[in-house]
Amino acid sequence: MCDNTSTKPCEGFSMDTVNELRKRVGGLGLKYFIETYGCQMNEHDSEKLAGMLRECGYTKAETKGEADLILFNTCCVREHAEKRTFGNVGFIKELKAENPRLILGVCGCMMQQKEVAKKLFDRFPFVDLVFGTHELSRFPQMLLEVLDEARVFQVTESDGEVVEGLPVERTEGFSTFVNIMYGCNNFCTYCIVPYVRGRERSRRPADIVNEVSKVVAAGYKEITLLGQNVNSYSCDGLDFPALLRLVCSEVPQLKRLRFMTSHPKDLSDGLIKAMSELDNLCKHIHLPVQSGSDRILKAMNRRYTSGAYLELVDKLRSAVANVEITTDIIVGFPGETEEDFEATCELVRKVGYSNAYTFAYSPRAGTIAARMEDQIPEEVKKRRLNQLNAVLAETIPSNNDKYIGFEGEILVEGVDHRGEPLLFGKLSNFKMVYVEGDESLVGSFLNVKVDGYRFNSLFGHIIQG
Ligand code: SAH
Ligand code: SF4
Ligand code: F3S
Repeated sequence: MCDNTSTKPCEGFSMDTVNELRKRVGGLGLKYFIETYGCQMNEHDSEKLAGMLRECGYTKAETKGEADLILFNTCCVREHAEKRTFGNVGFIKELKAENPRLILGVCGCMMQQKEVAKKLFDRFPFVDLVFGTHELSRFPQMLLEVLDEARVFQVTESDGEVVEGLPVERTEGFSTFVNIMYGCNNFCTYCIVPYVRGRERSRRPADIVNEVSKVVAAGYKEITLLGQNVNSYSCDGLDFPALLRLVCSEVPQLKRLRFMTSHPKDLSDGLIKAMSELDNLCKHIHLPVQSGSDRILKAMNRRYTSGAYLELVDKLRSAVANVEITTDIIVGFPGETEEDFEATCELVRKVGYSNAYTFAYSPRAGTIAARMEDQIPEEVKKRRLNQLNAVLAETIPSNNDKYIGFEGEILVEGVDHRGEPLLFGKLSNFKMVYVEGDESLVGSFLNVKVDGYRFNSLFGHIIQG
């Protein structure tokens, strides 16, 4: 799992290539624009691509129209994401006609599906570069080839190495991401991610601590450790709770440590203990349940029952003060009956989530579920999605009653200008709180008291710490 022989200093990102690129493009004032689809993993990959471009002398463009290089970092978790990409790439043809120097690249999960990537590369001759997720660190070399007038198509099946030391251009703010692992071994039957991100590869603890320290020294106050299933992290004898303890003890200046995502089947007592004991570890867990029906959970290959899930929720709530739980749910999985669907609604009522992301099942070519009989008609999926969202619209606010009079600390993220300007920021447990206050407080920790709520947001006022 943690194959340290593959942890090499960036092979793809050699200084020779960077210097060559700098010679070619440095001083020309070239600009890049990256459009990102999908999850935090992709967002963070885009930050790495931006970091590489920065090293090569590019600066960020505000719009596609002023860019000399446009990259689409794609997602394929649902069909909708794929369709959008084809449409949006098509639009670039006009920009290319206006600016023949413009380079267009498409990368990310969707491009890791070789057949889909080939189709896009053939359909759009104005696309200069296509590369898969395992190719990320070789981006500067591919860019050099494109500058030499080549069209480059680079999609390999073998899992990408764990490459350390890539430059990262982090999105401005106070909160940022650090990868702890790549890939997924779980093969939930509906999910394309294991096919496009490869097998699990954990980063070495020392490399993670090193990156966290650097990011904190640069002024970030909140870090989210990223993995498809952080609970199966394993490297140099450390499991995930041990890694959390290491990060908290080695970087005590870091005030907020978060993580995502946790697979319920691997959520250990050790993690619950770490959450209850480590002050700087946030009291929030994103725990995707996917379904409340044991039959469907089995068909999804999730390897837990709704009863086991509810037990985890109870354990978390009794051990971790003020913990909040969020989730992902899929409706309309093949074979889902009204009874199965009702079991999902029932579980949602029992748990009392603070938020939930709900999806209609989308068949993904190559996955087991896509070949299952009893696919559910689109209109049934849509109806169930609406029904489930209606259940959530009832249960989420009712979970907020307990917050009236609650006192806690928020990290102010910004100012909401939709009505009267209000500062907004999250509690450790991910609940968003809005308060009146001066814009200069953005980026600081504030003690607040909650006075009311609207849907999943809390409203309050600043109190003295
Ligand atoms: N690794 C994470 C999530 C990855 S994808 C985890 O295991 O929790 C994010 C969410 O997308 C999943 O939790 C699931 O709810 C949803 N999803 C994945 N594949 C899907 C599909 N084929 N159709 C609909 N939703 C899907
Ligand atoms: Fe997909 Fe399941 Fe892996 Fe999450 S754990 S990425 S849902 S296969
Ligand atoms: Fe994420 Fe989409 Fe890839 S959800 S891992 S960007 S398929």
